[in-house]
Amino acid sequence: MRKALVLGAGGFIGSHLVKRLKKDGMWVRGVDLKFPEFSETVADDFIQGDLRDMQVCERAVDQRFDEVYQLAADMGGAGYIFTGDNDADIMYNSSMINLHILETCKRRNIKRIFYSSSACMYPEYNQLDPDNPNCAEDSAYPANPDSEYGWEKLFSERLYLAYGRNHGMEPRIARFHNIFGEEGTYEGGKEKAPAAFCRKIASATDGDTIEMWGDGAQTRSFLHIDECIEAVLRLTRSEFQGPVNIGSEEMVTINQLAGMVMEVAGKNLEINHIPGPEGVRGRNSDNTLIKDKLGWAPSEPLLEGLRKTYQWVEGRLHRRN
Ligand code: NAD
Ligand code: GDD
Repeated sequence: MRKALVLGAGGFIGSHLVKRLKKDGMWVRGVDLKFPEFSETVADDFIQGDLRDMQVCERAVDQRFDEVYQLAADMGGAGYIFTGDNDADIMYNSSMINLHILETCKRRNIKRIFYSSSACMYPEYNQLDPDNPNCAEDSAYPANPDSEYGWEKLFSERLYLAYGRNHGMEPRIARFHNIFGEEGTYEGGKEKAPAAFCRKIASATDGDTIEMWGDGAQTRSFLHIDECIEAVLRLTRSEFQGPVNIGSEEMVTINQLAGMVMEVAGKNLEINHIPGPEGVRGRNSDNTLIKDKLGWAPSEPLLEGLRKTYQWVEGRLHRRN
């Protein structure tokens, strides 16, 4: 039986990935500080431990794995990564995980390892125009990410590539563009915009006002979790190492995003624009390279993903009340 190791298996993308790998018939070990929050893990084996600790990494990688997926990181939405308050923690925690896990995998002769980088590593100067951001993979340098989270991702991309060149490992690197969906964080400060607006709109009644950071003209694209998982598997099992964007090209303003969630909810609400952490002014995935190398691009419209996510968030809030 083929074996997979999922690091960050208690998180949003990791827990969905474990489900998919099990469905595909693999034996799966998950590792995380915590168990998944919203459903039981289906991993065959789950180690609860801190991957900053080399001994935990050694326990996690104590045998041969056909595929290793590295999704563990200190991360969150704009309210977590753009305030500046968490910069040192983010840089220390995530780079310690990557340094230790790579060294452990090298010693165990693991070859194929997927690494989850982020669109946050792209330079700010290409993302100033909300209507025309440039996030082609070859636009990464000269580097100038607008957050320390982005700088750590860039450093770690280079670390994975160096282990590939110097130690015969086979890294596969994706730059995720805002992944959303069911069982994603929707409250507590780490939630991203789609989940935040699902929560705010589900909690409001017609005529109420909800808050939005900035004027809402900033742009983003959002990729549903099911499409993300499909792309991760295709990349990991391909001969293309990346880095490559995994995202949607359906760019919307944050005002449009909120409008779409209102449409799904069947509610008409006012928006109060307030100061808050905004990040880059515009961002959109460029899927030219992934189409060329993997023959893949997402196909589900944003509205469909939002429908599923809204239903899930609304269900969670109702169950509590
Ligand atoms: P998440 O926060 O839900 O999952 C990350 C998991 O890592 C969490 O469960 C957390 O407990 C675990 N973790 C953190 N520190 C750890 C440690 N020291 N030891 C063990 N486990 C630890 O985030 P996610 O959305 O599932 O993201 C997965 C990966 O994808 C991350 O690397 C993230 O930076 C990257 N990414 C995600 C997005 C997105 O939109 N979701 C976008 C770009 C990049
Ligand atoms: N989270 C959130 N909550 N965002 C809001 C809100 C709100 O209530 N109101 C407005 N926004 C705006 C933010 O200011 C930002 O401009 C935009 O919505 C998108 O915010 P997020 O979804 O939180 O994050 P992001 O797109 O800037 O960055 C995310 O995606 C990256 C990859 O593309 C983060 O998850 C990063 O960690 C990730 O790497």
